[in-house]
Amino acid sequence: MRLTPEEESMASGAHGKAAEKAMDLLIRYANALGAERFVETDNVAGVPGSAPQWLKDQYSQDGGDYRAVFCKFDLDADDVFDIPAMTGNACHLQGGMDPELWREQGYSREAFENAQSDEKNTAALNVKNLKTCTPYLAGNEPKFGEHCAWMESSAVVYCNSVLGARTNTEGRESTSAAMITHRIPDWGFHRDEFRLGNHLVEVDVPVNNIFEWGMLGYYIGEIVQEEIPVIDGAISNAGLVELKHFGAAAASSGGVEMYHLVGVTPEAPTREKAFGGNQIKSRIRYGADERRRTYDNLNIRGRSTEVDYVMLGCPHAAIGQIEEAARLLDGKKLNDGTALWIFTSRYVKAEAQAKGYVDIIKQAGGLVMTDTCSAIAQSVPKGTKVVALDSAKQTHYLPAFLGIEAWFGTTEDCINAALTGKWRGELS
Ligand code: F3S
Repeated sequence: MRLTPEEESMASGAHGKAAEKAMDLLIRYANALGAERFVETDNVAGVPGSAPQWLKDQYSQDGGDYRAVFCKFDLDADDVFDIPAMTGNACHLQGGMDPELWREQGYSREAFENAQSDEKNTAALNVKNLKTCTPYLAGNEPKFGEHCAWMESSAVVYCNSVLGARTNTEGRESTSAAMITHRIPDWGFHRDEFRLGNHLVEVDVPVNNIFEWGMLGYYIGEIVQEEIPVIDGAISNAGLVELKHFGAAAASSGGVEMYHLVGVTPEAPTREKAFGGNQIKSRIRYGADERRRTYDNLNIRGRSTEVDYVMLGCPHAAIGQIEEAARLLDGKKLNDGTALWIFTSRYVKAEAQAKGYVDIIKQAGGLVMTDTCSAIAQSVPKGTKVVALDSAKQTHYLPAFLGIEAWFGTTEDCINAALTGKWRGELS
C-alpha cells in the first residue's frame, strides 16, 4: 500500500482516534483486495451508526449507544471514542421504518424511538438522512467519473452504469470509514480496465417498459452473475425508471454492478468501446422463449390468485411512478382485504404530496411510505399470504424472506389486483 503524507498522518493518529481507526480498517480492507493505493471520495452513502436495539444491547458494557455501535461495530475498534462531524458529502441510505407509518408496519414505540434517536445522531454528524435506496432521486447524483463509496446493490449498479460514476458495492464498515477519511481502495470499478464488458447480450424482443426491463435484467443477472454485460438490440425507452428496475433485477438474480447499453449508457457509445478490446466470453440471446421462461420463473412463487397485499416502489418510486399509481387509483377504492403500500424516498414523497398524488392514493385506501420497503423491514400488512409486485428484485427477495406467495407483473396488473383482490396478470 502506498500512502500519501495525509493518509500516513491519519493512520498515525494525528487527525484523532476516529480517523486513525478508520484508516486502519481501510488499510486492512485494501490489503485484502490487493489495492496499492486509495482514491479520494467525497460521495459516500452508507448506514453509519444506525442499529436496532438488539445490536446496541451487545455493546451494553460500552454504553450501548450510537457512539458505541459506530466505534466497535462500524470501525471495528476496541474502544469507544468521539466521532467527528463529517466534512464531506455523506448520506444515509434506506433504514428500517417509516417515520410516520411505523405502527402500520408493525413496529413498537421503543423501536421507533430508537430509530429516531439514531436519526438525530446521524444528522448531528452532518450525514444527510436521505433514507432511500435511490439517493440519485433524492438530491445525490454523482458526476460522470466521480469516485464514490456506496452501499446498496441497486444504487451501485445505477451509479456505475447510468451515471458513469465509480463505486464498488461497499459495506457498512468501509462506508463509515470513508465518511471520516474521504478514502476508499483504488480497486475494482474505480479502475478503467475493470469497467469493460465481457458478455454480449443480443435482445430480439421489444424491451420498452419497467416490466420488460425488469425481466431482461433478471434474465441477464442469472447468467453473467458478477460480470459485465453489454446489451444491444431491440431495447428502447431506456429512461431513469426503466434502468432503475433493470439494474436492480440484474443485481438480485446475479451480482451485476455495472452494465453497458450500446448507444445509451455513457461508457458505451459503440459495442467496441463497451468491450474495449476485452474478449467476449459469451453471446447471450434474449428472445421470446427466454422472455417467457423469465416470466414463469418470477411467477413460480404464485399459486393463489387471491391477493391481499400489493407493494410498489422497489427500488424506491420516482415521481412519475407515483403519478401513474394515483392516475390508476383516482376516484376508486381498494378491494376490502387488499392493502397497497408504495415505497419512495422522503424527497419524492414531499413532491408527490405537493402534487396531490399522496392524497389520491390515500383516498383509494393505499399508503405512500418512505425510508424502507417490505423486504428491508421484513414487514407486510398483518395476515399477508399473497403479494403482487411490479419489481423483479422485490419478487426475488420478499417471498424468500417471509415465506409468502408472490406474483410479478406490470404496474397496472398490480393496481388491478389492489382494486379487485384478484391476480389476473399474464404475459401478452
Ligand atoms: Fe430499495 Fe427495498 Fe428494493 S431498499 S431496492 S425498495 S429491496
